[in-house]
Amino acid sequence: MPRPEDVVFPRRRERTEDRTKETAQRKLLDEFFDHATLLAVSRLVNQGLFESIDFPVSTGKEGGVFRATRGAEFRAVKVYRIGNTTFRHLPAHALEQLRQQTSVRNYGGLVIAWTRREHTILGRLTEAGVRVPRPYGHLRNVLVMEYIDDAGAAAPRLRDALVADPRALYDDLVEQIGRMVRRARLVHGDLSPYNTLYSDGHAVLIDVAQAIPTDHPQAPALLARDLENFAKFFRRRGVEVAPSEFLRAVGGDTLGAPTEA
Ligand SMILES: Nc1ncnc2c1ncn2[C@@H]1O[C@H](COP(=O)(O)OP(=O)(O)O)[C@@H](O)[C@H]1O
Ligand SMILES: [Mg+2]
Repeated sequence: MPRPEDVVFPRRRERTEDRTKETAQRKLLDEFFDHATLLAVSRLVNQGLFESIDFPVSTGKEGGVFRATRGAEFRAVKVYRIGNTTFRHLPAHALEQLRQQTSVRNYGGLVIAWTRREHTILGRLTEAGVRVPRPYGHLRNVLVMEYIDDAGAAAPRLRDALVADPRALYDDLVEQIGRMVRRARLVHGDLSPYNTLYSDGHAVLIDVAQAIPTDHPQAPALLARDLENFAKFFRRRGVEVAPSEFLRAVGGDTLGAPTEA
């Protein structure tokens, strides 16, 4: 059986000629892939979810997202850091949701429950027809999902994207958020041009773990904030978006009503 670190970075050993890369990769490896995480990754490889991890797409305080390969396909692997600094920024409403669902005794358990939660919510959104990365599996603090690209390269965040037709994008977002609210009965709660990818002219919503049910007391306020983040973005691009119209268009006036069949 190969060593877990060789599974995670299969090309690492060939790169001895490139000391800089080697050092950078080792640093990443130490930061994200502690022994237990490496074991989780190699189990996911054994389950056939992907074959190797290629490179980091994004590294942040709470975790990193890596591109992985499976046959001719790419996948995204999100690794949450296990450590007590990880979840300092979690919104209270999300933590409270998690506590209702799982008995979490320590930070490690919290991170694992959070990873599972993101997987579950991605599944629910996929079923509701919302454009999000399709979830493929999870283990411990590692989540495997569809890799969102834009003309072959990693999709940019909407924040950084060159949007050809902002009006069409607004309509697209109304449709995606509308399905999320009306069909999945969820409010994202951290939606913004940072947590939206721009893929071949379409919006793809990501980073969904803190989503809450539409009948949650805080849902209306969170939805209003989510929409305002986009309204600002569109205003800067010359599309005037009225908050009340945006809210009505996504079904925000139906929060708490029974699920649409
Ligand atoms: N499925 C995906 N496909 C391609 N890139 C992704 C995917 N998921 C996340 N990313 C990239 O990783 C970044 C961070 O992902 P995100 O889920 O927002 O995590 P966090 O904000 O918690 O670090 C995104 O801005 C995006 O660039
Ligand atoms: Mg994010």
